[in-house]
Amino acid sequence: MSSMNTPDKTTPPTVILSGPTRGLGRALLDRLVSQGFPTVGLGRDLGRIAAVARSAPAQVQLVEVDLGADSDALTDALAAVRRILSTNSSGPLAFISNASIIEPIGQATGLTCSGLERAMRINCLAPLLIANFLTKTAQAQGRPLLVLDVSSGAACRPIRGWQAYCTSKAAYKMGLDVLAAENSHIKVVHFDPGVMDTSMQDLIRAQHVEDMPEVEVFRSYREKGTLKAPFTVATELIELIERHLS
Ligand SMILES: NC(=O)c1ccc[n+]([C@@H]2O[C@H](COP(=O)([O-])OP(=O)(O)OC[C@H]3O[C@@H](n4cnc5c(N)ncnc54)[C@H](OP(=O)(O)O)[C@@H]3O)[C@@H](O)[C@H]2O)c1
Repeated sequence: MSSMNTPDKTTPPTVILSGPTRGLGRALLDRLVSQGFPTVGLGRDLGRIAAVARSAPAQVQLVEVDLGADSDALTDALAAVRRILSTNSSGPLAFISNASIIEPIGQATGLTCSGLERAMRINCLAPLLIANFLTKTAQAQGRPLLVLDVSSGAACRPIRGWQAYCTSKAAYKMGLDVLAAENSHIKVVHFDPGVMDTSMQDLIRAQHVEDMPEVEVFRSYREKGTLKAPFTVATELIELIERHLS
């Protein structure tokens, strides 16, 4: 974690949230809206959350982007974010980097180039480019920026069958640490949410043991009822924002 300028305590942070459509991201969107944070949601197929944006039109703005698409799509999305932030140019910024994919799952020797590329793009390259862009924007506007990386234990330890996920999450973590080392106006926090009851875990539990030898461990979390509710984790993340920026 690096240091940053003293936050403006009078204006609530503007939160840029990736992956607001499902799981933890959806729970975060609801919490941010109910607590009055100006929010920019970045994700795909945003018709699914249009009602949330309609319920708080002055507070929520949505920017449609597939993080797995080519760089032109991301450039267009960042131009839209720039326009939004130019009309809302005071107070701190927070980027909750939440969108991720767990696939492809399988023995490393069987992974394809396109599968690995897609995981690297969605879990590492696209969010790194967003964080780089927000760092520049925050500097130009003289505002502090908190980058909250929704990370995973898999960024720090190898899990068999998860080469794409472990590698992309670890590379992203390091990319953000370099960014923080270069920029004193930003702070990076890596946050491991624990094992949550979302569709990512549904997908993990459905794997074959040949592809993912530890699958039974993940099935046991469900059986023992130890999965965390996304809403509980969203509350923890909002508290982190408040602790660092309020
Ligand atoms: N669930 C867990 O137990 C667990 C444990 C440790 C860490 N995490 C981390 O927690 C975060 C949230 O996970 P989750 O469980 O909530 O996952 P999830 O239910 O699978 O939701 C993933 C979110 O990422 C978005 N996303 C995926 N691909 C995208 C793309 N190409 N472009 C734009 N958005 C895309 C999804 O949008 P769509 O609806 O459009 O697909 C969705 O909103 C992730 O960073 C994950 O690595 C989760």
